[in-house]
Amino acid sequence: MRYHHVIYLTLLLPTLFETVHGHYGFILMDCHVLGSLQNVEIVYSVYYGKTELLRLNSTENKVVAYTEYAMKWADDLNKKPEWLHTETEKNIRDCKRFGQLFLPMTEKSVKPEVIIRSVKQASGKSPAMLICSAYDFYPKHIKVTWMRDDKEVTADVTSTEELSDGDWYYQIHSHLEYFPKPGEKISCVVDHASSHRPMIYHWDPSMSDSDKNKVITGAAGMVLGVIMAVGGLIYYTRKNKAHVISAGSRDVRHSEPLQTRSDSEEL
Ligand SMILES: *[C@@H]1O[C@H](CO)[C@@H](O)[C@H](O)[C@H]1NC(C)=O
Repeated sequence: MRYHHVIYLTLLLPTLFETVHGHYGFILMDCHVLGSLQNVEIVYSVYYGKTELLRLNSTENKVVAYTEYAMKWADDLNKKPEWLHTETEKNIRDCKRFGQLFLPMTEKSVKPEVIIRSVKQASGKSPAMLICSAYDFYPKHIKVTWMRDDKEVTADVTSTEELSDGDWYYQIHSHLEYFPKPGEKISCVVDHASSHRPMIYHWDPSMSDSDKNKVITGAAGMVLGVIMAVGGLIYYTRKNKAHVISAGSRDVRHSEPLQTRSDSEEL
């Protein structure tokens, strides 16, 4: 996926626009990179305070006026198309030079971590609610869609905007409300600059994450119980055996002298 970048250059011209009571004029130069640096468009906007007076688009090579006062100015400028063209060409060169410097920094992308979960259990007639969440991606632009049996679902889909995490990363949550049918395949499709192909994540309805956690907790508890039971059994049998052995050896020790004594008495 390619994006359009805009490089803003603000030229404050205090000599051209007199500063009166905090009012000021400025020229805003947007450099639009259309897909790649081979295709660059320059848009100049002339402002006075918050009002845009004029705009020049390098693709059209024409000045458009937004106020009556600016119309005469626009007419004058439009009489000199060659001059407009050479002026914009200069800035297009600058824009490409700046673009080569700075765009590689903004073109870094980070793949989202995608999780699908169900928040409402589907029981009988009530619809199920699935949430497909993409976390920690960059840049902001992303497309999250739903597929049901390889066909895109558009109805009953709501999505948040790309939410900023405040650390250059973004997250987004898309909700799908649907009536589950046995045997159907539901997937969440994420389209993002970090991957050349759409990333497809299949929803596994057999077990939700919270169910899995319950099973894992139960299994861990059972393993612990078995270990303790086996440990207890080993301890019990060992102690029992030791008792028998020590009791037996005591008998032998006692019986031996008695035996010999009785033997000698017999002799
Ligand atoms: C500049 O003009 C072209 C051609 O009319 C148009 O496609 C483009 O959207 C304009 N750019 C801006 C930023 O208005």
